Amino acid sequence: ETTISSSNGRRTIPLIGMGMATDKEGSDKVKAAVLEAIKVGYRHFDTAALYGTETAVGEGIVEALRQGLIKSRAELFITTKLWCNSAEGHLVLPAIKRSLQNLGLEYVDLYLVHWPLKQNQDEIKIPIPKESIAAINIKDVWEGMEKCQTLGLTKSIGVSNFAPRRIEEILSFAKIPPAVNQVEMNPIWQQKKLNEFCKKNDILLTAYSPLGASGTIWGHNRVLECDVLQDIAKYKGKTVAQISLRWIYEQGVSFVVKSFNTKRMKQNLDIFDWSLTEEELNKISHIPQRKHIYLNGSVVTEPNDVTAEIDADLSYQ
Ligand code: A2P
Repeated sequence: ETTISSSNGRRTIPLIGMGMATDKEGSDKVKAAVLEAIKVGYRHFDTAALYGTETAVGEGIVEALRQGLIKSRAELFITTKLWCNSAEGHLVLPAIKRSLQNLGLEYVDLYLVHWPLKQNQDEIKIPIPKESIAAINIKDVWEGMEKCQTLGLTKSIGVSNFAPRRIEEILSFAKIPPAVNQVEMNPIWQQKKLNEFCKKNDILLTAYSPLGASGTIWGHNRVLECDVLQDIAKYKGKTVAQISLRWIYEQGVSFVVKSFNTKRMKQNLDIFDWSLTEEELNKISHIPQRKHIYLNGSVVTEPNDVTAEIDADLSYQ
């Protein structure tokens, strides 16, 4: 666990969250995965309006309470995200209310602006067609986010896929600064500079795709198939996934990792009673860097000036 700022001072956030984005499993599997994850010790679930899993996550929570796996909802840390179709000041409050209704919760623990992008479309639909892409008015959106926290609909607020320059913009007018920035991060895309920037500004960096989202349509195998990681894993008797997650943990950040398989769920939690040596860390720091998640590729149909700028911003290292 670590702590982030929230409506009632600092509060704890589990360093490991269960990612709830899936392109394979339907609602029943998502619900079952929530239950299973709670059984093996996960307390943080990371979903989004985009993922279409909020309802199933909520059902899993209800069932976990019914089965007595947890005594109260307060034992859980639930994150969800504002999709681009609601990235306008007056649309933020209705969007979090919809998410809360889907989840069957009175509050979430963390609400994130999913991308610094606006989609001129009612429906949540990706890829976003070029004509629906617009620049975000982050001041307006952030005021909406602050309202969500002030009203108690979320304990903390933050961003996702934001580069330093955009965070600085928020910091210049924010009454409540972002507590978290969730971005692509793993040994193949190490985010050293962004990590330094976030640490300086008391923003918790959270890694998504910590395993490269291997096996999904938006992922790749370059983490799990990385030679350097494979050698270290073999030498230490660990899996490549564990080496990657341990490396992320040692950078002083949190991560959300997705597995709906009990064995791998447990494996991904088993990273705390061992560590990487200086030499291993040094080898990992020399892995050639390659970013994978670009707006232009999976989120939008065709780039324009707005999306090209966001992708360029996030390519900084
Ligand atoms: P599964 O759900 O079948 O375990 P990321 O967290 O980077 O988004 O990656 C998630 C992907 O990696 C999922 O396809 C997941 O599949 C797979 N995965 C999760 N944990 C492990 C692991 N320990 N070893 C190998 N693959 C894993």
